[in-house]
Order: sequence, then structure tokens, then C-alpha cells
Amino acid sequence: MSWFLLFVIPSVLSVGVVYLPNDIILAWSFPTTETIKFELRVPQTIFDSYGWTGIGFKPVASGSGMNGADITNIIFSTPMQDSYGLSRGGPKSDIEMGGACDLIYPDSHVDGRGIKYFWEKKLNTGDQYDVPLAKDQEFRLLYAVGQVSESGVQMQHTFMNRGTINIVLSENFRDSSLQYNLFSLI
Ligand code: HEM
Repeated sequence: MSWFLLFVIPSVLSVGVVYLPNDIILAWSFPTTETIKFELRVPQTIFDSYGWTGIGFKPVASGSGMNGADITNIIFSTPMQDSYGLSRGGPKSDIEMGGACDLIYPDSHVDGRGIKYFWEKKLNTGDQYDVPLAKDQEFRLLYAVGQVSESGVQMQHTFMNRGTINIVLSENFRDSSLQYNLFSLI
């Protein structure tokens, strides 16, 4: 799916889109009844200014915080990690905790405007470190960007560089009426 499609075609195709701060865009579609495909667009300016980005899903009823969130953790220039939010500290990879990496066809593509990340997932992987997703159901979406240390360790995001919104994982979701905290370029 090209960036052009992300902007122009969503109104006619079956693609859900959420426009996050600093021109980061998350789009999704349902290739089969059992799978969901994501595309995360990260502008070059964000790639140049930060060391990682990530998105996560958790049930709306589970409340705030990273704990229990199914996080796709993208430390730039390393493979995407299927991760899980714990009550303290950063996300841990599912594999590290005895689960599995359930990202299908993880891929990235660089073009003149930035980097696009792609991955698919089964809606229900059966992994205890994944949140079962469902079409047309509301979820709390977590998003963040942050730095890595000189030695490549993922550092905690600032308060301003993370946020949440509730979205419906429908084929035609648009979020133009929602308000966000802005990321601050540091
Ligand atoms: C080393 C990595 C990370 C550390 C140490 C960390 C730590 C924390 C801590 C301590 C909090 C609670 C304080 C606060 O609200 O700011 C928090 C909240 C949050 N984190 Fe992280 N985090 C990390 C990575 C991530 C990633 C990859 C995401 C991507 C989804 C993320 C998304 C969020 C969000 C959205 C909140 C606010 C949750 C809410 O208010 O409901 N974090 N994080």
C-alpha cells in the first residue's frame, strides 16, 4: 500500500487509519477472517530524531498503563519485536518471556518520505503475551517514540512522547475528530 493510498484511497477501500502525532500513521486491513495486516508510516524526521517507535493494543476495560499491552516494538535498524507491556519497566519481547514472535511477514520499506513498517498477525494467536484482537471491536491503542542509548539500549519515552487513544478495529475507522497530546521533538 503506498502513502498515496493511505491518504487518498482509505475513503473507498477497506482500510482503517489512525493519524498519530508527528505524522506517524497506523493503517490496518483484514487480509483474511483470521488475520490483520498493519502498516506504520514513520516520517524521516522522526526516524532521524529518535531511536525507536512502537504501538500497542490492550482491552479498553483494562485501564491505563503499559501493563498487559500487546506491543510491536520497533527499535530502528533492528528487527521488529512482538512484545508485551509489564507493570514496571519497558516492554519485554514475547520470546524472552517464553512466548512466541507472532509477527507474520515483518518488513520495512524506505522511500523519499520515511520508513514504512509492515506486519501481519493472527487476530487470536493463542500466545499469552498477545492480546486477542477482533474486527469491529474497540481497543486502547498505545503509541510512543523514544531514544536509544549510545550502546543501543532502548530508553524510556518522555511523558510527552507517549499517548493513548481508543479506536475501533474496523475496516473504515477514521479518527479525524480525536485530540492528541503532541510529541515534543527533543
Ligand atoms: C524502555 C522502554 C520503555 C519504558 C522503560 C517504559 C516505561 C513506562 C512507564 C514507567 C510508564 C508510566 C509512566 C508514564 O505514563 O509515562 C509508561 C507509560 C506508557 N508507555 Fe512506556 N515504556 C517503554 C516503552 C514503551 C513503548 C515501546 C511503548 C509503545 C506502545 C510505550 C507506550 C506507553 C504509553 C502509551 C504509556 C501511557 C499509558 C497510559 O497512560 O495508559 N512505552 N511507560
